[in-house]
Amino acid sequence: MASKITITKNGPIHVQGDFEICDPNGNTFDLGGKDAWLCRCGQSEKKPFCDGKHKACGFVSEVSAEKR
Ligand code: FES
Repeated sequence: MASKITITKNGPIHVQGDFEICDPNGNTFDLGGKDAWLCRCGQSEKKPFCDGKHKACGFVSEVSAEKR
C-alpha cells in the first residue's frame, strides 16, 4: 500500500500506509504497524506524535490543496 499523508483540520498530520519514522540518528520509532498522528501545533509532550493538546490550545489551521 502506498503512503497517504493527510493534514487534518485544526489537528495533526495523519500518516497511513507503508512508512517508517526515524529520529535524527536513524533509529526507527516502533509504531506497531499502526497509523501515525504527527503533531502540527507544537504543544504535544510526545513529539513528534500528537497527544491531543491541539484541542486544549485552540490550534487553528485548515489547509486546502486547491489553494496552492
Ligand atoms: S497536533 Fe495534536 S498535540 Fe499537536
